[in-house]
Amino acid sequence: MDRRQKLRQRSEEIILENQTAGGAILACPSFSQYNYSWFRDGAFIAFAMIRIGKLDEAERFLSWGNRVVISSRGKIEALEQKLDRGGEVQIRDFLGARYTAEGEEDQTDWPNFQIDGYGTWLWCMAEYMMESDLAELPSEWREGAELSIKYLKMVWMMPNSDCWEEFPEEVHPATLACIYGGLKGISPWLTGMKLETFIQDVRNFVYGNLNEEGYFPKYIGSDLVDSSLLWIALPFGLADVNDPVMMKTAALIEEQLLEEGGVKRYSEDSYYGGGQWIIHSCWLAWYYFETGRENEADSLLEWVVRQQKEDGSLPEQTTDITNEPPMVRVWEQRWGTIATPLVWSHAMFLIVDQVCSKSRKACH
Ligand code: BGC
Repeated sequence: MDRRQKLRQRSEEIILENQTAGGAILACPSFSQYNYSWFRDGAFIAFAMIRIGKLDEAERFLSWGNRVVISSRGKIEALEQKLDRGGEVQIRDFLGARYTAEGEEDQTDWPNFQIDGYGTWLWCMAEYMMESDLAELPSEWREGAELSIKYLKMVWMMPNSDCWEEFPEEVHPATLACIYGGLKGISPWLTGMKLETFIQDVRNFVYGNLNEEGYFPKYIGSDLVDSSLLWIALPFGLADVNDPVMMKTAALIEEQLLEEGGVKRYSEDSYYGGGQWIIHSCWLAWYYFETGRENEADSLLEWVVRQQKEDGSLPEQTTDITNEPPMVRVWEQRWGTIATPLVWSHAMFLIVDQVCSKSRKACH
């Protein structure tokens, strides 16, 4: 078996091993900080499950998320009242980015006010609906979807931490793309909700706040780019892959963040030194593929294949090339060695490997 085939097989095993009986998916079993189920990671992992035909497993994660949202009804309603009264809100008034496997709130001081995962989860639900035989959303899913949209309507323009738990004072286009993708995807199943205006408002806001040089910024008002900006096109479709703004953003990501096959998050990242992330090499490969650069996409995937450890597991990032080498040690002392296997890394490999393999077959 070649290394790519081995990675496909191990990725599937690792994904399935890290789902609990209740449907939660742990981000990384061996890294104490990541022993939680994230809406963001989980939704992309469940999407990988859908792509490899594991619909029941994907359904269990989506239902887990649904139970979390429904049990947060009181919180959502309390937030609404507080905002109506003009009262002061605290971080704990918002929904979390991650929960325990049992769906309980995370009591640590993790920067939990991050809203992207709720959009990604809705988007994954829509992807599931398209693959399943269901004609309508199951009633509990409808309840959870409606509630999360009620929540997103209240918070979408508020500054909140980005998908890396950073910059809580800012508004992030990649986060808004997740929300756009979720709303747009699920809207055909929620016709009564009339989401068109909300969807358009989110898109207009992102396009109305470009960097003055004409690209999507890491956050509104920033000159930086971040690899997560690729999500704006793939998979969320807020911009087309060939849209000039998207192309300019992707070109900057390529110029500033791609080095010898690996892609960094952003140029000032210092988490474990700020190395090259598996998920982002996959994402850029996906973008290359969709823009006709198949060979370059393949090289990036080959770089990913080379990062697998002896047992086939993929880390979160590699530290061969980093922004701040001394910070590798600092983080190792703080939290231990880099999270491995990072289940989201395996999911992104499976998703993009499949996209690329399918397009190849279609071309031949
Ligand atoms: C990343 C998050 C991710 C989490 C679990 C963090 O380091 O910043 O995006 O959700 O790890 O994988």
